[in-house]
Amino acid sequence: MKIARFSRVGFILAAAGSAVGLGNIWKFPYITGVNGGGAFVFAYLITVLMIGFTLMLAEMLIGYTGRKDSVTSFETLAPQQNSLWKYAGFMSLAGLFIMIFYAPVIGWTLHFIVLSAANLPSSVEMAKEHFNTLVSLDVGTQIFYHTLVFIFVTYVVAKGIKGGIEKLNYFLMPVLIVTMGSMFIYATSLDGFEKAWTFMFSPDWSKLTSASLVTAVGHAFFTLSLGMATIMTYSASLPKDSNLVRSSLIVIALDTGIALVAGLTLFTFLYEYGASPSAGPGLVFVSLPAVFYEMGSVGHLFAFVFFVALASAGLTSAVSLVEPVIQYLVDRYSFSRLKASLSAGLFFYLFGIIAILSISKEYGALFTFGSRNFFDWTDFVTASIMLPTGGLLMSLFVGHVMQEERVAKILKKQLGLFYPFWYFSLRYIVPLALVIVLLNLVGILEL
Ligand code: PFF
Repeated sequence: MKIARFSRVGFILAAAGSAVGLGNIWKFPYITGVNGGGAFVFAYLITVLMIGFTLMLAEMLIGYTGRKDSVTSFETLAPQQNSLWKYAGFMSLAGLFIMIFYAPVIGWTLHFIVLSAANLPSSVEMAKEHFNTLVSLDVGTQIFYHTLVFIFVTYVVAKGIKGGIEKLNYFLMPVLIVTMGSMFIYATSLDGFEKAWTFMFSPDWSKLTSASLVTAVGHAFFTLSLGMATIMTYSASLPKDSNLVRSSLIVIALDTGIALVAGLTLFTFLYEYGASPSAGPGLVFVSLPAVFYEMGSVGHLFAFVFFVALASAGLTSAVSLVEPVIQYLVDRYSFSRLKASLSAGLFFYLFGIIAILSISKEYGALFTFGSRNFFDWTDFVTASIMLPTGGLLMSLFVGHVMQEERVAKILKKQLGLFYPFWYFSLRYIVPLALVIVLLNLVGILEL
């Protein structure tokens, strides 16, 4: 059977589509706000450059040379086919776990598209009430939109790499770039822009705690889709003779660019209308709708456009979160794509419903364990523990387990003079940084 592969542009769009997601537009601005702005942004940018780039290249390399699902790629690339390494491939499960909270949040964005087409809440109080009602009381509405997300994502992945994922990204990525770009241009003309700029780029180092550093590193992984075999799985479908260095640089530039643009735009709007940047997870669902209302008719249009952009970003990431497991089921167990997609889809659908129940008033207590409800646990365990652990395993594998000749054969020419720096960073700096991050977690873990 001939395997469908990405086109070169298709791969970059799909990898960027995976990277640019709710993480950039929803999570990045709010965690920047909560963690005090500039110093946090700085920590995040450094991590993206130092750890993100090194690891993205390593992850691409495993997929590109392994050519199969993550478990098989680790298995075949390990010298003497050391069978224990194949278990590292199960990092792909993290994607399904992420979908447990990611799919319901995409559901919220769909609800907000409808809301902004009808009528926006006219004050922060009303917006707060609306959002709280949605997440804590209105289980039915959430399950309705969650179901739509399940059907859409399952349909796209069932269509395959070329006919589903590549097509979706060809369509939605331009939508995202144009919508976010035009709102950004508008934002630059407002007075609040300068304040937003200062907030994001003038660091106040006293605000950088070890907890916010861990958040910054965790987020760098999350936003670049690293550490859970997504980039690896996509890279298994790269055309031969692809330039991995160029592809990773483009993906990182797009991802970082869109996060900064989203942050600047949102903070400008919030400052312009006197709202606080540190409102937490409700930032785009509470403060922003109220600000859009204040802006009048242009605000109504922007609200609609903004939530369409957010949903697009979320959907292109969602397909990439389930694809690694699908590829595993297809490659190792000869599942049809449809059967594999339905299995993965049903998993996140059913657990997603539990996540929705866990934040509701009525059933929350049933699904709260220790200091967190099920929804928050899946977020915390995946972004703060699973992705850094996956990244650590990948850096050890490419840096210390795979034969260097194999690595050098592909990357020496592409990296040129930078090859020794990259290899050093992969072997020592990245693992060390990740071990520190993981150890730090023990300190901040409140059970
Ligand atoms: N990068 C996505 C975002 O920023 O929303 C989320 C994500 C997608 C994380 C794919 C991990 C992943 F493998």
